[in-house]
Amino acid sequence: MGKIVGEGSDRMFYDTHAHLNAEQFKENLEEVVKEAKEAGVEHINVIGFDRETNLLAQEIAAKYDNLYPTAGLHPTDVNEFTEQDLVVLEEYIKKDVTVGIGECGLDYYWHNDNKDRQKYFFIAQIELARKYHKPLVIHVRDAFQDTYDLLASEMKKGFFSGVMHCFSGSPEMAKRFLDLGLYISLGGPVTFKNAVTPKEVARVVPLDKLLIETDCPYLAPHPYRGKQNKPSYLPLIAKAIAEIKEVSIEEVANYTTLNAKRLFLK
Ligand code: NI
Repeated sequence: MGKIVGEGSDRMFYDTHAHLNAEQFKENLEEVVKEAKEAGVEHINVIGFDRETNLLAQEIAAKYDNLYPTAGLHPTDVNEFTEQDLVVLEEYIKKDVTVGIGECGLDYYWHNDNKDRQKYFFIAQIELARKYHKPLVIHVRDAFQDTYDLLASEMKKGFFSGVMHCFSGSPEMAKRFLDLGLYISLGGPVTFKNAVTPKEVARVVPLDKLLIETDCPYLAPHPYRGKQNKPSYLPLIAKAIAEIKEVSIEEVANYTTLNAKRLFLK
């Protein structure tokens, strides 16, 4: 029988996208963080996306020295956001403990009648990324071309860093985002038997531009697909990528952790 992933080894993982501030972890956070450590998941970003989850990310991350909060305004909720939300957001971004800005981005799946408003809030967060030299955590759904065009034109006004989180676009699109200087992050779908595109993306993205994430409690990897996801499942994602790229899981762990540290922890 093979060794359980992470057990008795010094390989170290960084879960760059976890919603430990979600309702699902309210009762068992301590256990979930402990399990993650036991699985070799040393570092975890706790991702905010609105007023409530941004505050919770700060509170939760303050309790553990290996948890790092982000703060952002998610495109699906822009109809409810106001200028005041941007003021509050900037207060979080100013804080040293906050490692990134997002989730932010464009999502035309849920709403496509407020594109200008989505772009307005996205650009406001890009400006914060430049001002505070912190990376963007970028969410895209059904809006790849607009997201690319917006990022490319903003990049010309001044560099900012960031990651395309749980990237679901084509390998060609991935290359274009890489050319902008952004990282690509892969999650649970790369482990799904029938998911062709994420596997192709894993193949084309060089190890030094790749991050990994669980996006828990959503998108649990195989064989937990459909169940509640958690950071301790991250090695399953690294293992799938290692098989696709024909490298060792240690190599995937080392590169993705180093990349994430470079991007988020400086
Ligand atoms: Ni997310």
